[in-house]
Amino acid sequence: MGHKDDYYNRAKQQGYRARSAYKLRQLDDAADVLGEGDAVVDLGAAPGGWLQVAAERVGDTGTVLGVDRQHIDPIDGVETLRGDLTEEATREEIHETVGEVDAVLSDMAPEMSGEYDLDHARSVHLARQALVVARELLAPGGDLVVKAFDGRDLDTLEADVEAAFEYVRTMRPKASREASSELYLVGKGRLRTDLRAGEELAVEIVDTGREGDGVAKVDGYTLFVPGASEGETVRVRIEDVKPRFGFAERVD
Ligand SMILES: C[S@@+](CC[C@H](N)C(=O)[O-])C[C@H]1O[C@@H](n2cnc3c(N)ncnc32)[C@H](O)[C@@H]1O
Repeated sequence: MGHKDDYYNRAKQQGYRARSAYKLRQLDDAADVLGEGDAVVDLGAAPGGWLQVAAERVGDTGTVLGVDRQHIDPIDGVETLRGDLTEEATREEIHETVGEVDAVLSDMAPEMSGEYDLDHARSVHLARQALVVARELLAPGGDLVVKAFDGRDLDTLEADVEAAFEYVRTMRPKASREASSELYLVGKGRLRTDLRAGEELAVEIVDTGREGDGVAKVDGYTLFVPGASEGETVRVRIEDVKPRFGFAERVD
C-alpha cells in the first residue's frame, strides 16, 4: 500500500519507529505476553517499533534483546545484535547473550517476491527458526509470538507450536493491513516436557507431595501420581500437562 494511514500517523506522533508497534501492543493486550521484569528476545526487530513497546512493557527491571540482519539504531534499555536467524551462529550468539527468557517475539518477514506460495513458504521457514530459538531459550511457562503468512503449511506450523506449549492462539491484530495475509501464532505456556496427555509409561515414585500424592520425575519434570507411594514403580497414564508439572493416573 505505502500510503500514510492512521497507524502510520499515530506512530509518528507517539514516537514509534514503525506502525507495527501497534500490532505488538494489540497482541500483548489480548494475549498478555509481556510482563514487568520479563526478559524478552525480539527476532527480526529492525527498525525497532516492537523493541520500543517491549521495553515500555517490561520496564526498568526487564531486559530486551533485538536481533536483525539489518542495523538497529540504539534504543534506551535495549540490547541489539546483528545477524541472520537462519544461521546457527546467530542463534548461538543469542544463547550466549541471554540466558532463559520469558518471551520470544518474531515479526520476521521475507523479502516479498509477489509470488504467494513462495512468500508463504519463506515466512513459514522464518517462523520455524523462531520456534527453534523459543524451544531453546524459553523458561517453562514462557510465551512465543510469531508472524507467518497464511497458506498451506500453516496447519503443520501451528501443530508444531502447539506441541511445545500449553495452547496456541491464531491472532490477527487490527493494526495489520486489511489486505495482508499475515497472522500471528501465540504459543502460551512453554512446556518443560515432551510428555503428552494420554501417554502411558512406567515411573518410579521418588517422593511424596504435600497432598499425599506420589511424586515421579521424568527427565527432571515433576509428575504427581495419586495413590502411589515412595519407592514404588508404577505404570501411569498422563492426564494433564502443565508447564512445570503434570498429573498422571495409575493404570497398573
Ligand atoms: C516487518 S520487519 C520487523 C518490524 C519490527 N517488528 C518493528 O516493529 O520495527 C521484518 C524484519 O525481519 C528481518 N528479517 C527477515 N529475515 C531475517 C533473517 N533471516 N534474520 C534476521 N532478520 C530477518 C528484516 O530484516 C526486517 O527488519
